[in-house]
Amino acid sequence: MANDLKNLLDRVERVDRSLASELRQQISTLARRREFGLNFEKHKPETVELYGRTVRAGDKVRLLNPRGQHGPREDSRTWRVKTITKAKAGHQARLQDLEGDDEQTAPLDELVVIADFRDPIYPGLRSTGSIRRGGDKPHHVVINAENFHALETMLFTSQGAVDAIYIDPPYNSGAKDWKYNNDYVDGEDAYRHSKWLSFMERRLKLARKLLNPTNSVLIVTIDEKEYLRLGLLLEQTFPEANIQMVSSVINPSGSQRPLGFWRTDEYIFFVAIGSAVPSSWVTDMTKEAGGPAQRRAIWNSLRRRGAGNLRVDRPGCFYPIYVRDGSIVAIGSPLSPQEQPGDEPDVPGATAMYPIKEDGTQGRYECNPKTAEELRLKGYLRLKVHRGEPSIQYLRKSEIQRLATGELVSRGQNEQGYLEIDWGAEVARQVKPKSAWNMPSHDADQNGSRINRLLMPDRKFPYPKSLYAVEDALRFFVGDKPDALILDFFAGSGTTAHAVMRLNKQDSGCRRSISVTNNEVSAAEQRELLAKMLRPGDPDWEALGICEYITKPRLTAAITGHTSTGAPIKGDYKSIDEFPMSDGLEENVEFFTLTYEDPRVVAADLGFEAIAPLLWMHAGAIGEQIIARTDTYAVVDSYGVLFAIDAAGPFAKAVESKNSVRVAFIVTDDEKQFQRVSGLLPSQVETVRLYESYLRTFEINTGKE
Ligand SMILES: C[S@@+](CC[C@H](N)C(=O)[O-])C[C@H]1O[C@@H](n2cnc3c(N)ncnc32)[C@H](O)[C@@H]1O
Repeated sequence: MANDLKNLLDRVERVDRSLASELRQQISTLARRREFGLNFEKHKPETVELYGRTVRAGDKVRLLNPRGQHGPREDSRTWRVKTITKAKAGHQARLQDLEGDDEQTAPLDELVVIADFRDPIYPGLRSTGSIRRGGDKPHHVVINAENFHALETMLFTSQGAVDAIYIDPPYNSGAKDWKYNNDYVDGEDAYRHSKWLSFMERRLKLARKLLNPTNSVLIVTIDEKEYLRLGLLLEQTFPEANIQMVSSVINPSGSQRPLGFWRTDEYIFFVAIGSAVPSSWVTDMTKEAGGPAQRRAIWNSLRRRGAGNLRVDRPGCFYPIYVRDGSIVAIGSPLSPQEQPGDEPDVPGATAMYPIKEDGTQGRYECNPKTAEELRLKGYLRLKVHRGEPSIQYLRKSEIQRLATGELVSRGQNEQGYLEIDWGAEVARQVKPKSAWNMPSHDADQNGSRINRLLMPDRKFPYPKSLYAVEDALRFFVGDKPDALILDFFAGSGTTAHAVMRLNKQDSGCRRSISVTNNEVSAAEQRELLAKMLRPGDPDWEALGICEYITKPRLTAAITGHTSTGAPIKGDYKSIDEFPMSDGLEENVEFFTLTYEDPRVVAADLGFEAIAPLLWMHAGAIGEQIIARTDTYAVVDSYGVLFAIDAAGPFAKAVESKNSVRVAFIVTDDEKQFQRVSGLLPSQVETVRLYESYLRTFEINTGKE
């Protein structure tokens, strides 16, 4: 480059000496200026070993070390699988060295597939279980995966749809706390900072595409080892965002730093995108709020949303509530099993409202007609119309108690007959949060490790966050978004999902989370498992990985209220709301493992089952999933799939008859047919062409930079 410039200047000099001299001066001034920004070795390409993934012809693979062998790979070359043949001793692969001419044959079970981040992947999801206690609320999702691939997958399911990302990435402590290109990074590694930056940058660039550009937040925790570099990286990756760093005490007794101040805090970067700003809260974060002091929703839906929310679950709670001119005028009696809405007695001029769910199924009210009538007479029941949709709301016992203590203040019954209520002035006083947090509830040991021990007495996870620290950080940005989508792609023990569930409990919200974590074991566990002649990919090894052994059991315990050993959880949540952990949380969660599909199989419409969960996630992870292909079409609560274009007419009718359908997936190779069918569907339904949009998403968005 410098040489090219010199030649050019020489040429200029031959024509105009003074111009050349001026140019030389300017160039030398520029050259003295230090380049601004973060420069680091990009470490391309990043690869990851996909244990358990079936080896196919065309794959890149490496040879596994013999069982029981520690240390670096005996053969670290990457090979391409040319052919696979069946032999008596099992399947054999013919391999070609990718960088040399060598060829060899190796048994399939001695190979591991390599994913090079520059190559496209075609992801699918395989369900590995679910917990359902949340009625018709959307599902939280946990994905066992390499997060780079999970983020790519989310480009298909959730591009621009994420309201908040909370991540607690490896801090690069030098103590083998993370892996780059399948190897632990230790303090001796001269490239450890640039490796960490390359690793983070690739993932943050994808995360950026998932965040809602008009209003969302990225929250990243970090400590003194990488906070300076991370700050610059965030500035470069999110140039238009408003970035602020908070210092947060997480270990009040302090950990020793022989050469410096004892470390009590860590840092939290808030990257606010679009119009996102932190909301006010009952404390400025320099101290815990005194007393019960929080604004939650005062009125709650009388139609039950948690477990057991169907008419059949409690027939006595399925009855008409009569409304006229915005007022509730009478409470009817439960219908007999043979009766249907419309069979109720008439109340002149009034309409009968039943607990009907968004998808048209018959739900039930929280209480029987007698209690409803008592509530009505006291002004504790009201008709609420939100975006044209009427619903019945009521005051729960806790809110009625708050009225008695003065936390809630009533201005009396209004014309519609219900109480006009607000939070009492002192109780609800809200303040702007400050940037130095000193919250005893954010103690990582007390409210991270200890809570995990209560939930999983038989298991250990290093360095979880305080549950309340995550909850507080998120609340500033999604506290007023009861339907927010929150992502954590370094989920570890699942603290973020747990915190989102608690936020929902506080205001009857329907937020949902997506948690991604790999199934790594620690460096020490790895040594033990190798000594037992195990290898990654073996069921006994994978069962001890973080996702399977920690994340899933922790969230299962949080929801069910029972520990990983089956006993009711001891202890109470101790935060702005206190209740026994054994109550559990009324939420739904679905667990998945990311799979790697063959695009030819998907394009030929032979791989529907593998990508089926992606369609369900795209439609909001709510209600039932369409898990298998049919000959015509299938429609569930939130989406539909048209498999045979001939069935477009009945498909459109089925979609129209369900008000709740948000997305229609149309399987066709023909863009014109796709447009024609899209035209038949209600305008609010998003249409997606399969498998074109799926395949295109991954062809475009590969890790090539
Ligand atoms: C510091 S921990 C997060 C702890 C979490 N905040 C909690 O409270 O439990 C980081 C987690 O990210 C996971 N992880 C690291 N690299 C990953 C990768 N490339 N893909 C997926 N997960 C990864 C690790 O397994 C680890 O559990």
